[in-house]
Amino acid sequence: MTVSVEECERRANSGLLNRWYPVVASWRLANAPIGITRLGERIAIWRDHKGQVHAVEDRCPHRGARLSLGWSKDDRIACWYHGVEVDAGGHMAAVPAIGRCEAEKRARNKAYPAVERAGAIFLWFGSPGVEPTPLVLPEELEGGEWGSILCVAHWKCNYRYALENVLDPMHGIYLHAASHSMAEGEKMATLRQRETETGFVFEKVGQTGVNFDWVELADTGAFWQRLTIPYRKNAGPGGPFGIIGMVTPVDDTNCLVFFWRCRKVDGWKRDAWRFLYRARLEQLHWHVLEQDRVILESMLDTARDDEALYAHDAGLVRLRRMFLKTAQDQIEAETRVSQPQAAV
Ligand code: FES
Ligand SMILES: [Fe+2]
Repeated sequence: MTVSVEECERRANSGLLNRWYPVVASWRLANAPIGITRLGERIAIWRDHKGQVHAVEDRCPHRGARLSLGWSKDDRIACWYHGVEVDAGGHMAAVPAIGRCEAEKRARNKAYPAVERAGAIFLWFGSPGVEPTPLVLPEELEGGEWGSILCVAHWKCNYRYALENVLDPMHGIYLHAASHSMAEGEKMATLRQRETETGFVFEKVGQTGVNFDWVELADTGAFWQRLTIPYRKNAGPGGPFGIIGMVTPVDDTNCLVFFWRCRKVDGWKRDAWRFLYRARLEQLHWHVLEQDRVILESMLDTARDDEALYAHDAGLVRLRRMFLKTAQDQIEAETRVSQPQAAV
């Protein structure tokens, strides 16, 4: 069985499956359901009376209205149009207009496993029949000694550009040279790769803790990236400033970036850091993110087709290979399941 490069590119561009993705910040989902589009799929999410999150395909099985326009009824969501109720498993659970219905209990809607961690709601996007793996997050997002603040932004570019941007530490000293934290350091560098248990590190040789000098990519049931940016002395307590980044496709040309700003502080120091961050640093960091957004949105969706890469792009080249290989494996596995004879 051969899968074409175009097919692999399409899958990689729309979002690799069998992974957890953060889809919204927790604070955005209160009592009313919300409708979102992620990985090109329209999804309704809501909370039950315990606050537990549920997510199903955002389409009423009756006539196709958006379920997210309706209301939550504990672990069901009710359609605004004629009141049909869909449960968390995607079953048509009640048709109040006729009191009963033969269609009841048949699963009609795709349902998404959901978990809430580190101030965000994560959904599992799987190939048909593939059960979710546990979501393993980096230690910075597991609480304990770490405090983190989540910031989410919408960028009008394919999500792979946002991932590639972070796998490119060299842009710090250029794109962000006028920022509060990335003015220092060499404008020329050699970069190398280092293996980790869950991915790899791409780092500058001979410079660390001066600018954006290294980045880690990991795949632990979700793709995430880790980096540190130094604090300038006048920006408060010293030590590097940790960032965990994840990117979720909205569709082929839009994405959401989730950046958790992290510090290893607990107790009153964590509160002090949060206060200082909100008061003095957050605006500066939004400004830096804006520079990334502007540059990425300026690139054509086809930019990848005509590039003159050099050694500093080895990190993103590796990411592309990894994504295409994963896409190929997924499509092949899906084909084996749907057409068993094709595997022979
Ligand atoms: S379309 Fe939803 S109840 Fe009719
Ligand atoms: Fe950047």
